[in-house]
Amino acid sequence: MSNRGISRRDFAKSAVAIGGASALAACLDRFGAPDVPEGTDPATLPARQHAWDKGLPTDDAGNHRLSRHHVLLLLDYERDGGPTDGDRSQVTDALHSLERAYAWQADGLQFTLGYSPAYFDRFDGAPAGVDLPEPAALAPFEDPELDTPDALLHLASDHEQVVLAAEEALKGNRDSVNDNEMAASFDGVFSVQARRTGFVGAGLPAENQDVDGIPDSEPVPEDAPLFMGFKSGFEKNQASEDRVTVQSGPFADGATQHLSFIRLQLQQWYEQDSRDQRVSKMFCPAHADDGKVAGVGENLGTDNGVGDCADDVVERSRREGVAGHAQKTARARDGDDTPIILRRDFSSTDGGEAGLHFLSLQRSIGDFVATKSMMNGTDVADESAVGQRVNNGILQYMRVERRGNYLLPPRDLRALPPADPA
Ligand code: HEM
Repeated sequence: MSNRGISRRDFAKSAVAIGGASALAACLDRFGAPDVPEGTDPATLPARQHAWDKGLPTDDAGNHRLSRHHVLLLLDYERDGGPTDGDRSQVTDALHSLERAYAWQADGLQFTLGYSPAYFDRFDGAPAGVDLPEPAALAPFEDPELDTPDALLHLASDHEQVVLAAEEALKGNRDSVNDNEMAASFDGVFSVQARRTGFVGAGLPAENQDVDGIPDSEPVPEDAPLFMGFKSGFEKNQASEDRVTVQSGPFADGATQHLSFIRLQLQQWYEQDSRDQRVSKMFCPAHADDGKVAGVGENLGTDNGVGDCADDVVERSRREGVAGHAQKTARARDGDDTPIILRRDFSSTDGGEAGLHFLSLQRSIGDFVATKSMMNGTDVADESAVGQRVNNGILQYMRVERRGNYLLPPRDLRALPPADPA
């Protein structure tokens, strides 16, 4: 347990979790400067800020693998009232500098800059043609803090040194990155209200498991990409980038982004639940009965396989006394049987606690709310032997502490956009 804000353990933070110039220096000292591919003319990059897949490697089965290291900066616009052209140019110049310095791919740098409902409040109307509600609690059993920064910057790279250097450069603490000069920074335009970090990918959760919420026995499997021990984000269980893209209006080629912070408590998960219970609760009971999931789940290929057991979840849960997380959320798929949100979530040790930054993209925030409502499984709990949170997927092991909603404008509108660019 935490005691007066000090973690139970004096855990060894990763360089990205610490952040700042000294963490970057220590990281360069220890691992050297990685060979990072240079960027390109920003005009040649895709109109969609969230077009990341082409720059991500694929695993043997063909699933895209997200970059390993992540930084989220919650930003406040420093000027009262509407943005000035000068501020817009400054933000554009700073982001163009990063695009010239680093290739738009996992071993380079990918990023998005999104804007909250609080940001758009300074204009007369909400963003044109996009559903961007204020964040809200999304279950009867949660009471999250609601994030209201103006903007959210998400930096992602396979190299810790790259996310750290890009962050320092944007803060105005570095003149160049990857041997490319920064034409500008965010200094004087954006101030950092909060900083969050995380990682995803085989090995990283095991390396970083010395935190509150994970038993001392260090149970996280060596090859697990996330703290809960299973692979996530199979190709057939993700919405495509097309599916989450805004289709029309001035923000066409944009997307909405939801970011929550989920705290994990994995004592029972790893110390009392059996392997079969973990598979039942994460995927579905039939997967446990049939021994369908080996290890972290690489053997599933490109499909979690819960399509069949998602048909009659209430009836099955009555029989089994358990409802699976993927089984329930799969009920939110659209007509052609594909999910409607694109998950780009990652594990975290922020605050010395095991957590997960759940970041997802979707065409409208309503798509996220619909998926989350399936995950709540209130109907399943009401009509079967499953509890509100007990044996109801993974709800028992997590607590949603924060929620925020953002609009990712298309690339050419990402610098302090007006609410109606038309
Ligand atoms: C601690 C938090 C979470 C963990 C560790 C987690 C992990 C997983 C895993 C292992 C799967 C099965 C493999 C896959 O399809 O990728 C899955 C599926 C899924 N999860 Fe989560 N998840 C978490 C939270 C959430 C949240 C908050 C949502 C959104 C409401 C969500 C939505 C989904 C969806 C849509 C699927 C795919 C369902 C389908 O096949 O149609 N997950 N998750």
